[in-house]
Amino acid sequence: MDVSIVVLAAGQGSRMKSSLPKVLHYLAGQPLAAHVVNVARQFTPDISLVIGHGAEQVRQYFAGQPLKFCVQTEQLGTGHAVSQALPLLPKEGAVLILYGDVPLTRADTLQRLIDQVTDKSMGLLTVKLEDPSGYGRIVRDAAGQVTSIVEHKDALPEQLAINEINSGIIALPAWALHDWLPSLSNQNAQGEYYLTDLIAIAVGKGVVVNTVQPSFEEETLGVNNRVQLAQLERWHQQQIATELMTQGVTLMDPARIDVRGSLLAGQDCLIDVNCLFEGTVTLANNVTIGPNCVLRNATIGTGTVIEANTLIDGASVGASAQVGPFARLRPGTELADYTKIGNFVETKKAIIGVGSKVNHLSYIGDTVIGTGSNIGAGTISCNYDGVNKYATEIGNNAFVGSNSTLVAPVVIRDGAFVGAGSVITKTAPADQLTLGRSRQVTIAKWQKPVKQ
Ligand code: UD1
Ligand code: MG
Repeated sequence: MDVSIVVLAAGQGSRMKSSLPKVLHYLAGQPLAAHVVNVARQFTPDISLVIGHGAEQVRQYFAGQPLKFCVQTEQLGTGHAVSQALPLLPKEGAVLILYGDVPLTRADTLQRLIDQVTDKSMGLLTVKLEDPSGYGRIVRDAAGQVTSIVEHKDALPEQLAINEINSGIIALPAWALHDWLPSLSNQNAQGEYYLTDLIAIAVGKGVVVNTVQPSFEEETLGVNNRVQLAQLERWHQQQIATELMTQGVTLMDPARIDVRGSLLAGQDCLIDVNCLFEGTVTLANNVTIGPNCVLRNATIGTGTVIEANTLIDGASVGASAQVGPFARLRPGTELADYTKIGNFVETKKAIIGVGSKVNHLSYIGDTVIGTGSNIGAGTISCNYDGVNKYATEIGNNAFVGSNSTLVAPVVIRDGAFVGAGSVITKTAPADQLTLGRSRQVTIAKWQKPVKQ
């Protein structure tokens, strides 16, 4: 059955105490609503997002993405919110309703819920909570069939004792939504149009309500304040850590890793404490990441060691390389196999060939280095004249002495040897010693200054 999805995201989220709409607060590197939209996309391109508070900001975040926006100008309840999307929904197939502030529902759970939908049945995602207060309660008859949902504020004392609650996530036939939504009333404790009233209507019309439980309670948890946001973030990180370990990655402390994006790791990788992975990061087999590293949109080859306190951003590193400690690889850096980048080295748009080394205290930008070259401590590629950027080219097996300044555009040819402390402004020819520094002199009969 075809499915359309409605995501409710019009609520204010006043308990966040924020100028940002609640659904744009970040969890694991993405806004809450983006998590929901992403899981929705696994089922259908037909996604309606009901926005209200902070509508423009939400619209802007999703600009360019295929989404139908429906503005709910007044928040008159969850039923009213879904009504805003009604004109955009097909009359056939299934409709799944998600909340923009419930970010971690898994696709397999939603699939099981959608599977409950036929012409004569619907699905309701429920969970049993130790403390059900605040939630809508699932009311069942003597045979155990769901008969209605009663909101906490409308519940009778004996209904308050029910600990099975409504997650709010439901799937139902589209025809039913079209037929029943217009008949909702707001005669209840909150004066709202409750989506949950659809359940009693369904039962009255002979549509069976089947419940589905998630694998984890956390899949149904919404974010109302920053404490809950932090708790869900931790739970999510724990899940990712468990998955990594299951796939053969050693985590020195599974409580001290943060993945804000996707981390793909081969077998026998070792990740030390306090590492942060952002965007898309890929580690081949046997990669070791030292403590306190940040890797963003990076690819690391087999057997490479990233030492402590290294930042890698938009870069690729080959196999059997060594980077850090305290290195910073900026976007456009491509390190080949067996390269070495040492402490306090910054690279940007640097393409460095097999076995070449930049071991200490250097800046290498807009530079191509061949194979087997050694760049001495404190070497700076002067790639910027304040207006334009220029390239530096260094060949194979070159040796650049410590504290050299390479004023781009400039070329250091294969096997060239640049003496320490040189300022190089012209091509350094192959296999020769080039010096760009004044000769050392000693002044005879020099006298120390004397106090006047
Ligand atoms: C709702 C359910 C309740 C369930 C609980 C689960 C109803 C009547 N009640 O209650 O049974 O246990 O969720 O968390 O549905 N929203 C709009 N427009 C509105 C109202 C809400 O877009 O006019 C959105 C909110 O942004 C939020 C979601 O719908 O994402 C749920 O709204 P909320 O006010 O939190 O509903 P609850 O009272 O918690
Ligand atoms: Mg709520």
